[in-house]
Amino acid sequence: MTLRIIPTGATLGARVEGLDLAQPLNEPTLHTLLQALGRHGVLKYPKQALTAQQLRDFSARFGELEINVANAYQAPGLPDVMILSNMVEGGKPLGLADAGQDWHTDMSYSRQIAFTNVLYGTRIPRRDGQSLGNTEFSNMHAAYEALPGELKVRLQGMTATHDFNKFWEKMRRERGSQRPPLTEAQRLAKPPVSHPLFLTHPITGKTVLYANPGYAMRIDQLAQQDSDEVLAFLFEHQLRPEFRFANQWEEHDVLMWDNMGTIHNAVADYLPTEHRYIQRCQVAASRFFDRTGQPRSAALAA
Ligand code: SIN
Repeated sequence: MTLRIIPTGATLGARVEGLDLAQPLNEPTLHTLLQALGRHGVLKYPKQALTAQQLRDFSARFGELEINVANAYQAPGLPDVMILSNMVEGGKPLGLADAGQDWHTDMSYSRQIAFTNVLYGTRIPRRDGQSLGNTEFSNMHAAYEALPGELKVRLQGMTATHDFNKFWEKMRRERGSQRPPLTEAQRLAKPPVSHPLFLTHPITGKTVLYANPGYAMRIDQLAQQDSDEVLAFLFEHQLRPEFRFANQWEEHDVLMWDNMGTIHNAVADYLPTEHRYIQRCQVAASRFFDRTGQPRSAALAA
């Protein structure tokens, strides 16, 4: 089989053909995929047949796997494979039903941020022949590029505080989510952290806008009102239609994306009776940053 990477032609996204993800990944192919992920932001591998262990093994080639702080809905014996699903069996939910259903970037609330999410979809809801539950993305390379010059200068070197509880509570407050409040232990495991607003992307070497409405709370160097105004501007700006790309799922797709160069949203347009079942690995950017968030030497980069 020959590896083919076919760009969607949109601002993000490419389809990767000729790769069986159940097989071990060799170093040259890993390097090609890392470059493609930086360049296209979102990669889709259609028609895969994976066990949870194989999904985990493939994901672990990209960096250290995160055990989600929610600490629930894990695949049996594999705490770093999380189930995202609205399915219920014997009165018991099979997964977290409303994961990611608003714009965010995974793990911007962690000291060591996320590199990639790897999702494997085996039940995709459909209505009238159309798949539902798209995952939408926005391109943060393009969003940075298009910022007004004076704002780039003003915000250069500034940081923003990100908090896991922001998204969690928003889902409970505004979306009627059944998730319980975070426990004290969960809050302590993920205290608020600061990251640069503008990040040099470790694969492309270009600057990305690293802020997202899900978790970013405050620009640390600005007064509260200024911070609120600038963040409101950034959150609107980063979702301009020309930066956006929507992935339409097919069953047995593996979808992976770059959490530094994109933000994303799981579209909640399906009913409880329209079933979706996704297994997810969250991969930390351990290849690029140490546990304290400091960049590693270029030698370890892609
Ligand atoms: C996520 O935010 O990781 C979930 C995305 C999805 O389920 O489409």
